[in-house]
Amino acid sequence: MTAASPNNPVDIAELLAFYASAGVDEALEDAPINRFAEVRPKQAERAPVPAAPVRESRSDRRPPPQSGPESSKAPETSAASFSLDASKIPDAPARPATAAVPDEGQVLLARQLAASASTLEELRQHMAAFDGCNLKFTAKNLVFADGNPNAELMLVGEAPGRDEDLEGLPFVGRSGRLLDRMLAAIGRDRNSAYIANVIPWRPPGNRTPTPHETEICRPFIERQIELVNPKVLINLGGPSAKTLLNTTEGILRLRGNWRVHTTASGTAIPAMPTLHPAYLLRTPAHKKLAWRDFLEVKARLRALG
Ligand code: URA
Repeated sequence: MTAASPNNPVDIAELLAFYASAGVDEALEDAPINRFAEVRPKQAERAPVPAAPVRESRSDRRPPPQSGPESSKAPETSAASFSLDASKIPDAPARPATAAVPDEGQVLLARQLAASASTLEELRQHMAAFDGCNLKFTAKNLVFADGNPNAELMLVGEAPGRDEDLEGLPFVGRSGRLLDRMLAAIGRDRNSAYIANVIPWRPPGNRTPTPHETEICRPFIERQIELVNPKVLINLGGPSAKTLLNTTEGILRLRGNWRVHTTASGTAIPAMPTLHPAYLLRTPAHKKLAWRDFLEVKARLRALG
């Protein structure tokens, strides 16, 4: 048997295929970057803050779990604990808008921006200009939505993965293909449904978004739901259900039971929490549960006319 060579294209291709199948999809730079040394832009240089009513904070969230039915993410190894001498890390090159530890002001700013958007396009523009969520700086694209904004059915997932980040569209990877089949099973597709996520930027390495990141992004998805004003909402997975249905219950208890999502203006939208397609890919025996939930949605939409 001959040893693999770093110069042989076949060996390189095999190594890359091995990495890809092991879930390695991020290329890191050789030298570490001290993000804390980057200069945070002054408030005046950030996205403009239009005057808008400030809504009450709902800060009763628990940190999302890492795997299992609650999460759409594959389990990942926890961050290694190591100590780092920050003075040895070279400063990052200056960027126009940079990552920093987000403060509570960003939640407030997100609320004001979201409330001031009177159309989906305005909302998309506000989100694209918003620098208050650090996930934006590692993501390639804003993943705003896909589908028909006039549809009577809206589905909300957790956060984009690698494929969604590359294309700038939600649910276009493996779980998206399963979601398309689930929609087809109730006679729908992306022309008769509207799809978005709680978090519009891909968390690096598909990690679970932090509660603070979720709080920063929540006003945007809440406003998006309000502007679409669907007859029925489907919450795909625990994080979407917990964020938008004001509950801490687990998805296996929540799923299959009608809940209500209440918009800022007080509209009550019937919501069906169900299992996330990524979870169903890992746990196919539970597909029958999601199938039942989708049939419930079909019947409710028919009853609503
Ligand atoms: N999982 C999600 O929750 N959203 C996507 O867009 C893709 C995968």
